[in-house]
Amino acid sequence: MTSTPAHNPPDSGETAYFGYRRVAAADKGLLVREHFDTVAAHYDLMNTLLSFGLHHLWKRTAIKMLGLKPGDRVLDVCGGTGDLALLAARKVGRRGRIVIYDINRAMLVTGRPKIARSPLAPRIDWLQGDAERLSCPDAAFDAAMVGFGIRNLTHPEKGFQEMHRVLAPGGRLMCLEFSQPTWAWFRWLYDLYSFYFMPLAGKIMVGSWQAYTYLPESIRMFARPQELSAVLEEIGFAQVRFRRLTNGIAAVHVGVKTP
Ligand SMILES: C[S@@+](CC[C@H](N)C(=O)[O-])C[C@H]1O[C@@H](n2cnc3c(N)ncnc32)[C@H](O)[C@@H]1O
Repeated sequence: MTSTPAHNPPDSGETAYFGYRRVAAADKGLLVREHFDTVAAHYDLMNTLLSFGLHHLWKRTAIKMLGLKPGDRVLDVCGGTGDLALLAARKVGRRGRIVIYDINRAMLVTGRPKIARSPLAPRIDWLQGDAERLSCPDAAFDAAMVGFGIRNLTHPEKGFQEMHRVLAPGGRLMCLEFSQPTWAWFRWLYDLYSFYFMPLAGKIMVGSWQAYTYLPESIRMFARPQELSAVLEEIGFAQVRFRRLTNGIAAVHVGVKTP
């Protein structure tokens, strides 16, 4: 198995990690965009295959924890092909609105037909842009969520600060992200699966081994749930709590912007 660099290493501000590779911070965004250009067309299928369908359950649990209400305005940061947006659209009713916000055009384009086929489509809009500089006014949303996206940012804390800025006082945040199993034997199996089987599946399905080494590497480099809670509290979110899913393969954090 590939050896992991120091977990969650300090960032000098000029460099960032792309998987296990230390790169110039200015280059990470481009590498991430190229990665999602490569995987976009098969993104939904690969998610379902590689997680044995579990990502649907994780997303449902995460949306439940966000506690959406009819009429809510929701920002889906790094929204990609729109799975979370569709689940949220069901909860917010006719008066509610969801904005899918993503930097990658190929991911948005891949998700569009799925959303267009849904009767919930009129509640969903798209915006292309960088999560570290949201092109949305202050206090414009009742809820903001990010699913499997924050670890791709060059500065994840900037993404959270931006989500905090665009939330109205009392607005709710949800972050669903990969983490690591808590049982040692399960972690060992999961490592084996994610460092060997996932890249192989990537090679077969999208023609790139590298595309699916970035996934497990970036997961290992991301903050552990307790660390992420501390980051959210530091930014100004209150009532922060998290729940591990499937022994910690994923974790959902929620918090509230204090009024
Ligand atoms: C793993 S996908 C998650 C998609 C979707 N949220 C889901 O749960 O299936 C991560 C998404 O983050 C987007 N992304 C990465 N960096 C971004 C950035 N700086 N700003 C906005 N979106 C970004 C990618 O384009 C990609 O669509």
